[in-house]
Amino acid sequence: MDASKETWGSRTGLILAMAGNAVGLGNFLRFPVQAVQNGGGAFIIPYLICFLLMGIPLLFTEWSIGRFGGKLGNHSTPYILDSMSKKSIWKYIGVFGIFTNIAVVAYYTYIESWTFIYVLHTVFGTFNGMGKEEVSLFFDNYVNLTGSDLGIRYLPAIVYLLVLGVNVYILSTGLGGIEKVAKIGMPLLILFGCVLAYQGWTMGADFASREFPDANAWDGINFLWTPQYSSLADPKVWLAAAGQIFFTLSVGMGSIQCYASYVKENEDIALNSVTAGFTNEFVEVLLGSAIVIPIAAGFLGLDWVIENAGFGMAFQTMPYLFQQWGVVFGAVAGVCWFGLLFFAGITSSLAMGTPWMGFMQDEFGWGKVKGAVSFGLIALIMGLPTVLFYRYGYFDEYDYWGGTVSLVIFALLETILFAWVFGIDKGWQELNRGADIRIPNIYKWIMKYVTPTLLLLVLIGAMFTPAGNDWAAAVSGLLDGQGYALESSSLISKLSHADLKAQLLVNPEKADLI
Ligand code: PHE
Ligand code: NA
Repeated sequence: MDASKETWGSRTGLILAMAGNAVGLGNFLRFPVQAVQNGGGAFIIPYLICFLLMGIPLLFTEWSIGRFGGKLGNHSTPYILDSMSKKSIWKYIGVFGIFTNIAVVAYYTYIESWTFIYVLHTVFGTFNGMGKEEVSLFFDNYVNLTGSDLGIRYLPAIVYLLVLGVNVYILSTGLGGIEKVAKIGMPLLILFGCVLAYQGWTMGADFASREFPDANAWDGINFLWTPQYSSLADPKVWLAAAGQIFFTLSVGMGSIQCYASYVKENEDIALNSVTAGFTNEFVEVLLGSAIVIPIAAGFLGLDWVIENAGFGMAFQTMPYLFQQWGVVFGAVAGVCWFGLLFFAGITSSLAMGTPWMGFMQDEFGWGKVKGAVSFGLIALIMGLPTVLFYRYGYFDEYDYWGGTVSLVIFALLETILFAWVFGIDKGWQELNRGADIRIPNIYKWIMKYVTPTLLLLVLIGAMFTPAGNDWAAAVSGLLDGQGYALESSSLISKLSHADLKAQLLVNPEKADLI
């Protein structure tokens, strides 16, 4: 088949692939941590508002842009954006949509490889009989390459190569392979998630340990779900909420556009985009919040969770907690948990590989195999530093620049292109062609005015994040002439302190950001 005429096999395949794209490690590792670090119930209202006012409009925009580009035979953002305007600058802006995917996939596939080996360790019973500290130390040794796992010194690098290789292989089989993985992975993931969530929701206070007699799973659930309106005035919470919405929906990346460029010209995108987006939210808000936090709170207490919330919990704490349910159910829970993470991860990393392949196809006419192999090599070159130097915090740098800043910048620019350069009237028509639902007209207005304004605010907020994230102090400092101290992670101070090395030396242990 002519590569440029390739399309998704079926509507189910398309929706599952798109949902698989969105549902990822972000739902299970990033969301709960962001929620806890931003005050639990304080997080949820800004989060849902960001979903409605930025997430949904960006999904509409990206699906429309993608299908529009595909109609002209383009499958990568440089070519697609270029076809939407007369100015050649958009072609260069489109390159963001390739770069970001590579930067993120480099560390993403590494985490994916941990989930894979942890499934095996669960099956082998590696964690049986280990104490809490021991399980946590096992992880530290693994990522710092200081132990020898299964008797192999560089096992983490080998497993990483293997998982990357599996990605490359599936990508080389084209959309058919991606659909197949999504059709198997998504239902299993949801099933595993439901088993664990059920366990989380029903465990109550039964398992509280001697060390934490007040531990109760429901404390965790209530903490996440009791809304606190005071947070609405806190820019820090809004920034975190917006960042999570971007990452979790895979918007601002170029990846949705690429998948959408394989949708047939008159096939619905209005209902499909909403379905994929809501599936992601269902998995994130219901399953993502019902597993790590309640289970950890059930054993160790909410205070422990609040103090220790970090993405390492998934690997450092969960294997120990599962065992408290007994050898058999503990193993079932472990396989469900790491298996779920693996499927969530691989359906997303495949989605990050396709933009590169689309670009190679548009630019050089490369086929699937050449595209997939070159993707693997590039991802490997970018990823090896995270594997070998994890402990120096490379990870954070990728997540910050690739997984946060670029997304906001790219999303802002593409919204301007779609609503103002291409024109919202044309854009609205594009979105509604073949639509199976009527999108409320108010979204036309939101997409033109509200979304770009909010994106601009988020970008400005990220540039000027004050020290300690204390906005009130920063503003009053500015007013009474004491100056405005920037947080070291703000965009501006990052740009002016490009001496990465110095930062890494001071701050080697900062792996809780993803
Ligand atoms: N949305 C994915 C997650 O939640 C991450 C992702 C981003 C996947 C961009 C593809 C493209 O983990
Ligand atoms: Na997600």
